[in-house]
Amino acid sequence: MKVAVLGFGTVGVGVFEMLGNAEGLEQGTVLVRPGKNDMAFKRTSIEEIVSDPEIWAVAEVMGGIEPAFSYAKEVLKAGKHFVTSNKALVAAKGIELSNLAYENNVGFLFSAACGGAVPILHNLSIARESDKILSISGILNGTTNYMLDSMQRLGLDYSEALKDAQRLGYAEADPTADVSGLDALRKIMLACAVSFDMLPTEGILNEGIENITSQDVKHFMSRGYTCRLMVKGGRTENSVYAYAEPVLFRESAPECSVLQNFNMACYEGLNSGRISIIGQGAGRYPTASAVLRDLSTILGGRKYMLRQNCKAVKAENDKLSQLYYVRLPESMASRIPAESADTENGVARLITKPLSVLKMHSLAAKIREEGGKIFFAAIGE
Ligand code: HSE
Repeated sequence: MKVAVLGFGTVGVGVFEMLGNAEGLEQGTVLVRPGKNDMAFKRTSIEEIVSDPEIWAVAEVMGGIEPAFSYAKEVLKAGKHFVTSNKALVAAKGIELSNLAYENNVGFLFSAACGGAVPILHNLSIARESDKILSISGILNGTTNYMLDSMQRLGLDYSEALKDAQRLGYAEADPTADVSGLDALRKIMLACAVSFDMLPTEGILNEGIENITSQDVKHFMSRGYTCRLMVKGGRTENSVYAYAEPVLFRESAPECSVLQNFNMACYEGLNSGRISIIGQGAGRYPTASAVLRDLSTILGGRKYMLRQNCKAVKAENDKLSQLYYVRLPESMASRIPAESADTENGVARLITKPLSVLKMHSLAAKIREEGGKIFFAAIGE
């Protein structure tokens, strides 16, 4: 079965290479930007791909919403299966694309969009058929995990750690989505859609690691804590909660042993209890392996991850309360309800009273609006 590939960057090259050795799948054409059409297998127009009767499926690994969204619609309408690693596309347009796939009786899978090689969406889409998924959590961004790990274990500063993650092909073309927590947030949005038939598109919250400093990391280490960027999603009475934020863990927590670009995806099923899967969350071959897994899954007859009743919802992030570590200017410290505080050289480090996720993120946004530099992280269980 011939597969066309849209995009020939880090992941596209991996997908194309792997198609050369995959059982039941074959290399088709590759869509590249005009000017890069220097080899026989490359094309510059989507029309050539959708009108080619030999192409059975299309793998989109170009990223971004446009032109990927327009291409996806053309592919599905042409009756070809569509798989993608593009989180931004599925978070924004997943329901529409899924409906189009059902209408045209073709596959639409996107497990490469969440967790790199870690088969979390694939497993959730199967587990939810026989069990009730209650919640999902984990480390779902390889770039920031690599950065936090390098800052802690190798003593790199923030910009050195980011440069290394970019050089190794973990970061997005524009790494803002990685370091702001948006990339991780999109992944938990997809996990909620697959598990609960609810895609949270409003009320979602992301705090990343853009404001962490080497001093913060040293401070955590001196107290036996490790910082990780976590996502959480789960059912509330009428909707779901869904957010990304840094969390501090004690050394014995499994999250502390998730190193480099690895991800750890966990879910809790009513009957299965807690299940964790660890593997590489970013990079050429780990991500390409998930694209190939989706293609093989369609070959095997499973075509959908979203159900036809999946709907967009507003997340409820005001239901759970937790303690936070907060570092901010001493002059603004009174703005945060605190259990305890240390101040030194104009900088305050606080442990808050229990606060909802919504409250903490809103307080930080206000402080930033007024020019205050603030970093916060939840204190893990
Ligand atoms: N930039 C993403 C990450 C790539 O670092 O996790 C994989 O989704």
